[in-house]
Amino acid sequence: MVQKQLRSAWSRCLCLIWALLWTPSVRAISLETGDKDSVCSAATLITNGIMDYYEGIRYGGTVGLFQPPYFWWEAGEVFGGMIDTWAWCENTTYENIIYDALMAQRGSSANYVPANQSTTEGNDDQAFWGLTVMEAAERNFTNPPSDEPGWLALSQAVYNTMLSRWDTANCDGGLRWQIFQWNSGYDYKNTISNSCLFTMAARLARYTQNDTYIDTAEMVWDWLMDVKFIQNKSDGYAIYDGANIGTDNCSTFDTYTWSYNYGILMAGTAYLYNFTNDQIWLDRLSGIYNGFESTFVNASTGAMYEHMCQESGNCNNDQRSFKSIVSRCLGQTAVLVSSYTDKVMTIINKSASGAASSCSGGSDNHTCGINWSYGSWDEWYGLGEQISALEVIQNTLVLQVPPPLTNSTGGTSEGDVNAGMTSRETSNKNEITVTSKDKAGAGVLTAIVLIIFVAMSTWVLI
Ligand SMILES: *[C@@H]1O[C@H](CO)[C@@H](O)[C@H](O)[C@H]1NC(C)=O
Ligand SMILES: *[C@@H]1O[C@H](CO)[C@@H](O)[C@H](O)[C@H]1NC(C)=O
Ligand SMILES: *[C@@H]1O[C@H](CO)[C@@H](O)[C@H](O)[C@H]1NC(C)=O
Ligand SMILES: *[C@@H]1O[C@H](CO)[C@@H](O)[C@H](O)[C@H]1NC(C)=O
Ligand SMILES: *[C@@H]1O[C@H](CO)[C@@H](O)[C@H](O)[C@H]1NC(C)=O
Ligand SMILES: *[C@@H]1O[C@H](CO)[C@@H](O)[C@H](O)[C@H]1NC(C)=O
Ligand SMILES: *[C@@H]1O[C@H](CO)[C@@H](O)[C@H](O)[C@H]1NC(C)=O
Ligand SMILES: *[C@@H]1O[C@H](CO)[C@@H](O)[C@H](O)[C@H]1NC(C)=O
Ligand SMILES: *[C@@H]1O[C@H](CO)[C@@H](O)[C@H](O)[C@H]1NC(C)=O
Ligand SMILES: *[C@@H]1O[C@H](CO)[C@@H](O)[C@H](O)[C@H]1NC(C)=O
Ligand SMILES: *[C@@H]1O[C@H](CO)[C@@H](O)[C@H](O)[C@H]1NC(C)=O
Ligand SMILES: *[C@@H]1O[C@H](CO)[C@@H](O)[C@H](O)[C@H]1NC(C)=O
Repeated sequence: MVQKQLRSAWSRCLCLIWALLWTPSVRAISLETGDKDSVCSAATLITNGIMDYYEGIRYGGTVGLFQPPYFWWEAGEVFGGMIDTWAWCENTTYENIIYDALMAQRGSSANYVPANQSTTEGNDDQAFWGLTVMEAAERNFTNPPSDEPGWLALSQAVYNTMLSRWDTANCDGGLRWQIFQWNSGYDYKNTISNSCLFTMAARLARYTQNDTYIDTAEMVWDWLMDVKFIQNKSDGYAIYDGANIGTDNCSTFDTYTWSYNYGILMAGTAYLYNFTNDQIWLDRLSGIYNGFESTFVNASTGAMYEHMCQESGNCNNDQRSFKSIVSRCLGQTAVLVSSYTDKVMTIINKSASGAASSCSGGSDNHTCGINWSYGSWDEWYGLGEQISALEVIQNTLVLQVPPPLTNSTGGTSEGDVNAGMTSRETSNKNEITVTSKDKAGAGVLTAIVLIIFVAMSTWVLI
């Protein structure tokens, strides 16, 4: 722990030294929002920064994981964003890396509960990988071979196993935060786990045209309202973090408001409205949207920020990536609900411009910062800052690319309605072989990084 802190302090310090030596006066990422060439060249620079944190192509690294302190769930989030880059920029450079990661981390039951993560994995963590394989299905990402579960089947496995944990013994329903009793947080029911189940259900309903998933979405929504994690206030919905089961069945809750709860629920209502055309989902979307805009969008710059922690400089590694989740959800909303397209695109465009100007830091001159209202790099950096910038910038293209596919509009992913419910051995296939292409790439990358590092350190010393 101490060593980790020292190391991160040291790397922050090194980075600052580099930044001071090479004053980043040039704005390294110039962005014309909505222009494909401009967005995709920004995406290339930002993704380079993302890959600096990726372990899976380093010697001895685990495929699918980013280096500590980044948790397993965040890797799931990152690969979802990279699938969109793959699809929208039509760039296959990272296809094998993404594919290998999704396959390597699905676990021996092919439901994203890998044995290695049993001390960290909660329902929300599993769900972020679930949302990513759903993204793979909706974006027609390269399918696994036919003797392996498809992206849709993997999404259904995540959904089925999450739903099987629905707990009516406490608080009249809801998912707990944690999956395993031994993890702290097992006695907490949180909004994000439940909103992810809601949105998985919404997306599965639309993709497969199967109404049964809508029943689940309604059940989860009703519970979130009943337990008052969602409240209708005068300036839109307030969406709170969660509550301990404790002694009062979730009546004493934690009123922190995080952007990702708004984003995930907004996307879920957008999918449901798009699929059902039912006014009730549009009304609910309106409550979420209004609450989101009044809480997380800077009124003077129009750019998003994480209001609980960003101004005070207290966002942790997880929280620093929430804007990436929200950006993808806003893009989905803009595409699926035409009456929100303009409002939502305004937030995306302004945030993307702010993000691009924040990506002018670090030793490479295009490291991204956290504050999209600042106008240049604010000295923050990390995987969360990178992925948030990538997602918001590429979502300025969202109206120009095909809407999320369904199985009747060209989606080709294989499903299995019962996936995840029986312990399915992916056995020998679980230990995937990393393609030699990736290994070669990794070697070259490592060599380049080493040479640069040695050169820079020498230069710093003399
Ligand atoms: C967002 O930016 C794109 C590209 O500049 C532009 O076409 C679109 O009109 C903008 N949308 C809004 C609502 O500002
Ligand atoms: C594809 O992405 C890679 C890595 O991000 C980048 O180096 C390359 O220039 C991109 N290709 C095109 C055609 O944009
Ligand atoms: C699980 O952890 C072991 C030991 O660190 C590692 O070798 C293996 O690749 C990991 N597997 C997955 C799927 O993460
Ligand atoms: C919590 O609710 C359950 C049923 O939903 C009930 O059996 C239990 O007694 C309640 N516990 C408390 C402390 O109110
Ligand atoms: C779409 O899914 C339904 C079941 O949900 C299935 O009956 C149908 O064959 C699928 N269509 C295609 C084109 O895969
Ligand atoms: C929220 O409450 C307002 C009145 O304060 C009402 O007009 C609106 O319909 C409610 N929205 C929803 C979705 O319940
Ligand atoms: C659903 O989204 C698609 C794609 O943007 C759009 O063409 C369609 O009109 C939407 N349907 C509804 C009911 O809004
Ligand atoms: C970063 O920008 C500075 C100042 O413009 C420049 O001197 C330096 O070469 C740039 N560094 C890289 C890696 O491009
Ligand atoms: C919004 O942006 C303006 C301009 O940069 C800044 O002065 C203000 O502090 C920002 N507000 C928040 C909450 O970030
Ligand atoms: C962002 O930077 C602006 C300008 O310096 C500052 O006023 C604001 O407090 C910062 N906001 C956040 C949320 O970090
Ligand atoms: C989906 O991918 C398959 C295989 O690459 C391709 O044949 C098909 O045309 C794609 N469909 C769409 C709608 O992109
Ligand atoms: C619809 O989904 C439900 C829930 O997973 C499943 O039990 C049912 O078989 C599905 N129906 C069809 C036609 O695929």
